Amino acid sequence: MHWRVSSLISCGVAAAAVLLGTANAAPAAMMPPAVARAGLAAVQAHCSACHQETAPGHFARISEERKTPEGWAMTIFRMEHVHGVTLTAKQLRIIIRYLSDVQGLAPSEIRAGRFALERRPNHAILKLPYNLPVMCGRCHSLARVALTRQPASEWLKLINFHVGQFPFLEYQDGSRDIHWWKIASTQLPVELAKLFPLHSVAWRRWRNRPPADLAGEWVVHGHAPGRGDYYGTAFITRTSWDRYRARYVLHYANGAAFNGSSAAIVYTGFEWRGTGTLGGNSVHEVYFASTNGARIRGRWFLSGHSELGGDWDAVRTTGAPKVMAVMPRALKVGTIRRVIVIGRGLGGSVDLGPGIHSRILARRPYGLILSVHVNADAAPGYRTVRVGDVQGSDLLAVYRHVDRLQVEPAFAIARLGGGTLAPVDAQFQAIGYTNVHGAHDKVIAVRLGAMPVTWSVEPFNAEAAKREDVRFAGTLNQDGLFLPAEGGPDPKRQFSADNTGDLYVVATRRTGNAAVVGKAHLIVTVQRWINPPIY
Ligand code: HEC
Ligand code: HEC
Repeated sequence: MHWRVSSLISCGVAAAAVLLGTANAAPAAMMPPAVARAGLAAVQAHCSACHQETAPGHFARISEERKTPEGWAMTIFRMEHVHGVTLTAKQLRIIIRYLSDVQGLAPSEIRAGRFALERRPNHAILKLPYNLPVMCGRCHSLARVALTRQPASEWLKLINFHVGQFPFLEYQDGSRDIHWWKIASTQLPVELAKLFPLHSVAWRRWRNRPPADLAGEWVVHGHAPGRGDYYGTAFITRTSWDRYRARYVLHYANGAAFNGSSAAIVYTGFEWRGTGTLGGNSVHEVYFASTNGARIRGRWFLSGHSELGGDWDAVRTTGAPKVMAVMPRALKVGTIRRVIVIGRGLGGSVDLGPGIHSRILARRPYGLILSVHVNADAAPGYRTVRVGDVQGSDLLAVYRHVDRLQVEPAFAIARLGGGTLAPVDAQFQAIGYTNVHGAHDKVIAVRLGAMPVTWSVEPFNAEAAKREDVRFAGTLNQDGLFLPAEGGPDPKRQFSADNTGDLYVVATRRTGNAAVVGKAHLIVTVQRWINPPIY
């Protein structure tokens, strides 16, 4: 009831605000009116001394921009440490909450830069048009750009701020051989405002929707590189209009328990930001609810080691029957395995295709536990998994041998530890492929998922061999996790150099006398001292 009233109120205010040309100032249907009032009062109290309230609820610069909770946190951090703003933790929370809901991004506007919020390590850089990668993607990821919405006039002010704060910017490699300032101060703000405008239909629609209630029972599955696939159930309860508690009863594919719990705040109606424990580790959760609140996806990562984490995919246990995943996702011919089919509403008999016999051992809210026998002559390739009337393709593969190993990521950066700064580790996994002959003798590489392998490192080139990078840069354990050495001058190295390194990470899988080998490139470099929420 409460929500309906507030959305009526916000519709009225939105209409007035559009007339004023300040559509952002209106409280969104996202938040209860009292919360919106407290947020507005906090911005008036702590920001308006410098950001003039030019119309009711409209603050110079602040109201001409939309971004994520992380984006707001970063700007306000700068207001604190450069411009002398002081806020208590509570005031900060109130302001971030308010601005994220009143001036946030719609789900479709998050998509391009989501990898940065999820802190995915070694993620390929975002591809943006014009000369944006050279102009704006040298010092930080382009996600910072793609997660901001403002008019050309504000983009120009942001560029002015960059040049004021970082005057060396124009002389850096990448800038000095082009007319950086000329481009940045003329055409670029206009292009940026076209790509990332303040006003959008997506946001206008989204901001007037009351947030979905995410409470309930959820089927979860995911993959943690180096640790494996996991699955189970999440029990989510709502503790206030924007807060949730969750309890996780999960297992790794091998059956080992992987339980946890968390407390989360949901911003902008869909941005789940949780803190809790998973498998005994402290973790952060950066998840996104789908527009109808029926699915939650994202990534969790270890507190203090955001490079280590896993994917998360959850759907409600109620809803149309669905096959979501199979663990393990690859079965070798001539073997008997315990297999879990993750999904909901899975009734009826199981069919994994010719040459595979399965028996249901147990039915669980998250799916079925099967005993599966793959005949020695079963055909290799992807299999369609059928349970009763529903099916899933490409979720399961049969193989005879592993033809190729691909180490992922193919290129990674690890960073030395130093003093109070934790090292940045690098997690690798070896993805197996088997070749299958398809129609017209076309060879199809069938992805088998992460395979157990033996891990080792080698020098990347002659220079790295001469410097003995393998000895100094760190160690690779048998889970494919590279643990970098300590930073700082090392008297044992030539010229007391830092423990940086240029390495190959090698995965080897032996069957009898045959070996399949995969390689990735790893750079072990110096610390990064500034680690903002959007890298
Ligand atoms: C003491 C003066 C002062 C106060 C108080 C202040 N700001 Fe700012 N703010 C500035 C200045 C100066 C700039 C322009 C330079 C810059 O961007 O750092 C700025 C720029 C901004 C921008 C635009 C820049 C961008 O990158 O998005 C936003 C948004 C902003 N401030 C938000 C806030 C919020 C929210 C508060 C209240 C918590 C606040 N400011 C309080 C001085 C202030
Ligand atoms: C010389 C390195 C450098 C280049 C080049 C650069 N940036 Fe930045 N940018 C930074 C740094 C450093 C910050 C963080 C400033 C802070 O919050 O203290 C930043 C912050 C930002 C932010 C977040 C602002 C905020 O208030 O939190 C955006 C958006 C952004 N940059 C966009 C751009 C765009 C657009 C370009 C190209 C025109 C660009 N950057 C080029 C260094 C750079």
